[in-house]
Amino acid sequence: MENFNYYIPTKILFGKGKIESLGKEASQYGKNILIVYGKGSIFQKNCYGTSLYQQAKKSLEEVGLTVFELPNVEPNPRIESVYEGAKSCREHKIDLVLAIGGGSTIDCAKAIAGQAKYEGDIWKCYETKDPRPLREVLPIASVLTVSATGSEMNGSSVISNLSCHKKIGLTTPKFRPVFSILDPSYTFTVNQKQTASGCVDIMSHIFEQYFTPDHEGYLQNRMMEGVLKTVIHYAPVALKHPDDYEARANLMWASTLALNNMFEKGKVLTDWATHQMEHELSAFYDITHGVGLGILTPYWMEYVISEENHHRFVEYGREVWKLTGTEEEIAEISIRKTREFFTSLGIPSHLREVGIGEENLEVMAKQATRRGPLGAMKKLYEEDVLAIFKMAL
Ligand code: NZQ
Ligand code: ZN
Repeated sequence: MENFNYYIPTKILFGKGKIESLGKEASQYGKNILIVYGKGSIFQKNCYGTSLYQQAKKSLEEVGLTVFELPNVEPNPRIESVYEGAKSCREHKIDLVLAIGGGSTIDCAKAIAGQAKYEGDIWKCYETKDPRPLREVLPIASVLTVSATGSEMNGSSVISNLSCHKKIGLTTPKFRPVFSILDPSYTFTVNQKQTASGCVDIMSHIFEQYFTPDHEGYLQNRMMEGVLKTVIHYAPVALKHPDDYEARANLMWASTLALNNMFEKGKVLTDWATHQMEHELSAFYDITHGVGLGILTPYWMEYVISEENHHRFVEYGREVWKLTGTEEEIAEISIRKTREFFTSLGIPSHLREVGIGEENLEVMAKQATRRGPLGAMKKLYEEDVLAIFKMAL
């Protein structure tokens, strides 16, 4: 096992009714709060007979906090929303940026918290993937409403700049939320498509860390298989019974654990090629992240599997899908099982089904590899990425 440091300081408040602690937790960071939310789900009536918006405002105002708002954050959040939120932070001397929503809202809140304290243009930090100019970042917190990205407990933020067709992630410990409220009941209202794509995203985060050519990371791989089995077990339950608390709770904690940096610790490599490729699809076509991942993943698996790395597919097939047979059979069937599972969740299996044709494949492949080859299972150069996009058409 590789050496590592492990420090994940986000305080998690998990479970029913935890919103009641919001005001008390937030008041530790100052008086002025900017709440950042999406296009309207926050106003939906929830299982508490009210809306999350009302619950959050009540909890914050009860302890004397002043609440400012940035509504309308887009799925695949835009840099323009970041600038608007940062302006509001400066005008109102904001002490804490509180995201209420899914990964898009949380990612936007992180970038706002960075831009608010930075004189330059934060987009340049995303473009160069260099967070060092961000010496100070406002405290960030979240109330999570979709199980998917892990943004609630990690230091990553993914922002889109559609004017130049770029969607880029930036990671810094300064972006880790100081606290996150995870009440699975809030995800009862998440629709079928977002529930399914969130589940694919969780699984993909695991795949990116699980599918590596090395033979180390025994413990990490067993823990990751546990997360995969949990999603495979509970995703169909949540789709059939959207208000099944146990299903939603397992998916929520799975989403947080899948990408809070715990599993990668001690492993030699991680892959992340599928995510880099998907970010190009979202940047050009503004598609849902988990849908893009669901389409690409089985083709990526078929493309990268080789004699050197097929032991990982064998492990995956045996442990996650309980397959038996020869190693070749298990490896091959494990990929088929993955595709069938995504299809059973309603995820398309071709790019054309989400409106993506041949027109931009070359430029997307070029852009995906602009910083060098992708991946660890197999190094993917521009022509490899193009080949995978073509397979997925
Ligand atoms: O805008 P509202 O009205 O809130 O609606 C949202 C949105 O349309 C809706 N929604 C959220 N909570 C709901 C709800 N609908 C009903 N009931 C609720 N409780 O769901 C839609 C999708 O929301 P979004 O936040 O976009 O989903 P997700 O959490 O999947 O986030 C996706 C974004 O995160 C990035 C993705 O690339 C994408 O931009 N990622 C962030 C990562 C990170 N920070 O670590 C890692 C990921 O790999 C990913 O790249
Ligand atoms: Zn993802």
